[in-house]
Amino acid sequence: MTQDEQKQLVAREALRYVVEDAWLGVGSGSTANFFIDALANSRLRIKGAIASSVNTAERLKAHGIDVDELNNVSDIPVYVDGADELTASGAMIKGGGGALTREKIVAAVARKFVCIVDQSKKVDTLGTFPLPIEVIPMARSYVAREVVRMGGYPEWRMGFTTDNGNVILDVSDLRIDDPVALEDRINGIAGVVTVGLFARRGADVILLGTPAGVETIVPKR
Ligand code: 5RP
Repeated sequence: MTQDEQKQLVAREALRYVVEDAWLGVGSGSTANFFIDALANSRLRIKGAIASSVNTAERLKAHGIDVDELNNVSDIPVYVDGADELTASGAMIKGGGGALTREKIVAAVARKFVCIVDQSKKVDTLGTFPLPIEVIPMARSYVAREVVRMGGYPEWRMGFTTDNGNVILDVSDLRIDDPVALEDRINGIAGVVTVGLFARRGADVILLGTPAGVETIVPKR
């Protein structure tokens, strides 16, 4: 089974978690796109979607799915999104597509985070995938120096601007033994909008695509 087939498998499985007649949080990236397509082809009726990026909002609308602003909504029972790396405890690296800040906001509001990934994303320790950090443009060099002091190797994602008008630093070589502590530390640097570590608010359910089918993991809290 190819990686895309595994993504499609978990995208379809995630439909089981959709709460009808309620708002649905929808993430970004290729796996989330498969989920949007599966949702559009299903008979599920939702109140509408809250999108974590402009691209996701456009894809939802193209399928005729209503999209509203988060400020108009107070209760999101479920948020479905992918990840770049994740552990069995539900900690994730996200932001490969650059939508990390809006993803983290929608995830914060949602009561349940359903993470859909193919098996290549599951790791014992986070950090092989470069950690994205969204940064206010004028703080880019300062934040990069602070990250170097922490042992990381930051690279500016050239030519890319986030939906919020900011830049991304992709950081390699960081030791991520304690994801919650590192998330707090990086978020504490002046000029950082969001770090792509999702450890304080991790996944509640992981749907892992494997050649044998979907493995469902519910991390212990
Ligand atoms: C975007 C994300 C995505 O969830 C992450 O990059 C995974 O993408 P894909 O499903 O294409 O592998 O965090 O900011």
